[in-house]
This record gives sequence, structure tokens and C-alpha cells, in this order.
Amino acid sequence: MPLQRVSISNLRNLGSAKLNPSSRLNFIYGANGSGKTSVLEAIYLLGSGRSFRSHKIKPLINHGSASLTLYAELSSQETIHKIGLERTGSSSESRTKVDGRTINSASSLASLLPTLMIDAHSFSLIEGSPKERRSFLDWLVFHVKHGFHDAWKGYSKALKQRNSLLRRGRIEGFEIRPWELEMCDKAHRLEAMRVECFEHLKENLNAVISDFVPLEGVTFELYKGWDSDKTLEQQLEHGRERDYKLGYTWYGAQKADLKIKVSGHAADQALSRGQQKLLVCALKIAIGKTYSELSGRQCIYLVDDLPAELDSENQHRLASWLNVIGAQVFVTAIELESLLQAWKEAEQDKITMFHVKHGDVEQVKQESKRLDI
Ligand SMILES: Nc1ncnc2c1ncn2[C@@H]1O[C@H](COP(=O)(O)OP(=O)(O)OP(=O)(O)O)[C@@H](O)[C@H]1O
Ligand SMILES: [Mg+2]
Repeated sequence: MPLQRVSISNLRNLGSAKLNPSSRLNFIYGANGSGKTSVLEAIYLLGSGRSFRSHKIKPLINHGSASLTLYAELSSQETIHKIGLERTGSSSESRTKVDGRTINSASSLASLLPTLMIDAHSFSLIEGSPKERRSFLDWLVFHVKHGFHDAWKGYSKALKQRNSLLRRGRIEGFEIRPWELEMCDKAHRLEAMRVECFEHLKENLNAVISDFVPLEGVTFELYKGWDSDKTLEQQLEHGRERDYKLGYTWYGAQKADLKIKVSGHAADQALSRGQQKLLVCALKIAIGKTYSELSGRQCIYLVDDLPAELDSENQHRLASWLNVIGAQVFVTAIELESLLQAWKEAEQDKITMFHVKHGDVEQVKQESKRLDI
């Protein structure tokens, strides 16, 4: 569902900005510190209720203001959805509305506006902890499997109860066992949904990698969070003493991982920094493609400072893949020319350009800019 209109008030240095984006390609360019990443931050906030740069809201609010507000319109086949969001320093005064109705859960925003981010932080997908890769896969599962959110909530509640009993030293069966059974029930549901999505994702990954990353022997494996030779029920029961000493539960769906290897070696050890970046791009492309195939909808790509991350040949490759997917893309760079080069085959009428200058966002006429290259 592409964004048709975006209004931003008092987010970082963006005092008041209005954008009428293209449903395909949006180039956002300007000098260092002008406000480009803040535009992406606004869109991400609309789709998740939080920022990708800060856990706190306060740093996002313009220094001279008491609150920030965002408004967006999204078009689907039949209707236009409206999202309004207001954030003050205090969470009790924050408000989020969808189509005029107040909503309290970020998951409603996420299902309306699924975004995929490619920025310097994305590269921790390879070298970071399993949590990064689990969240990556779960983004897909959440968006295409309707039971996932409730199963995850139920699982987390049971896990929390088990952990709190462990910390209180209560490891007697009659107290802990009901929570373990609940965990097992939900964990198997989560596993089934993850496996289905992973199998589909893997097919796309293999196709994208063979074109995008000049690497042999990259393999993907889903670790469900417990050993395959025994049931989770057995592993929880037999592991109570260990978990009691640890103070938390070792095995379970919270430990799932998407293991990435190159010729049998962990990818973060076997790949150069540049190769890791290409692999991350391949992962991001493949997941967006899988999302659109499984849901029949498009997600929105937010690509921050593309030239800083990839050389020109690979920028062009990424651009071509994003074109194949047909998603709405917001991409930033300091120089417009690098974006025009990367997307040199894109049709002109699909591109909208925004020049960001000291917190002002100005839509730029196309013709004059295209003639420059
Ligand atoms: N709460 C705030 N109030 C006002 N200005 C802020 C606030 N937080 C950050 N800024 C400023 O907002 C500006 C825009 O930051 P942003 O990261 O969006 O720039 P950018 O165009 O992406 O720069 P770069 O090319 O260096 O990545 C910066 O100059 C920053 O100092
Ligand atoms: Mg930036």
C-alpha cells in the first residue's frame, strides 16, 4: 500500500514538511545534517510507532517544540487509510489514530504500513546476535500469518511466568509444568509458521543471491530454538535445574535463529565487510519479494544513504531488484546524481525527487534534473 501523502511537524529539524510521494521511487537528497534520515524516520515511525534511531521519543521532538505530529494517507485498491500520530515527551499523552479511531497497539500500524529498512545498522544482520535474524524472519511471519501475533503473545506470557518461577526458586513440577505445556503448545505453532515462511524465503534468497552476490556455498538453516532429537517438553523438563541456576529459560522459540553459513563457516567469519553488505541487501530484497508473493501486497523500502553503503555497480543491482519487486522506495543520498545513476533505467514518471535543505523539504521538478546526466 503506497503512501500518497505525508505531513511531518516538529520531528528533529523538520519543522513542517509535506510530501506527495511517487508510488514507486522517491529520491531524497541534501547535505549532511539537512534532515534526510529524519524523513525516513518519520515514515518508519508511522509504520511502527517507534524510531530506528532511538528508543526514546524525546530526542525526536524538535528542540523548540512540545510535541511532534505525523499524518499520512495510504492508498489501497478501494480505500484510502489515514494515519495520525502525536508524540509528546510523556507516553500517557501520546496518541495514534487510524481512520479516525484511536489505536493502542503498534501491531495495527505495522500491518497497515510494513516497512523494510536498509541502512548502516542493517549490516548487523550478519554479525549481530540471533535476535537480529529472528526479528528479520519474524517480520515476514507476522505480516503473512495472521495467528502469529497472538501465538507470540501467548508464548511470551508463559515464558515470563516460567522465568519468574525459576527466579523465585520454584522449580517444582506442579507449579512450573502448566506454563511449560503452554509454551510447548505455542512454540509448535510458531515453529510451523516460521518453517512455512522460511521455506518460501529460502527459494527467493537463492535466486537473489545467485544474481546479486558473487559467492558460492551460502546456505540458510532455520534453528527452531531447541534440539531436534528431543521434544521441547522433554528439554524444558530436563533443563529445569540448569535454567534455575541461569535464572531464565535456555531452550524455546525465543532462541530461534536463521543460521547463515558460507561453505559450512559462520558468515560473519567467512565474508569481507563488502560481501556482508551484499548479502544483507540480498536478504532484504528476498524478504520483500516473499512478502509480496505471500500477501499480494507491497511493503515500503526505506534506504538510507545508499552510496555510503554500496559501490555504484552494486547500487545499480539493488535498484534493479527493487524495480522488479515494484515496491514504493524512499532512498536518500547526499548527491542526487548517484541516485539517478543507480536508477538510470527507471521510467521518469515513476520518480519523485525531494531536496532537503536545513529542515525544509522541497519537491524538485524532474525535467531539469534528468537532463544533467
Ligand atoms: N530534536 C531535535 N531538534 C532539532 N534538531 C535536531 C534534533 N535532533 C537532531 N537534530 C538535527 O537534525 C538534523 C537532521 O538530522 P538527519 O540525521 O536527518 O540529517 P541527514 O540529512 O540524514 O544527515 P547525514 O547526511 O549526515 O546523514 C541534524 O542537523 C541534527 O543535528
Ligand atoms: Mg542521514
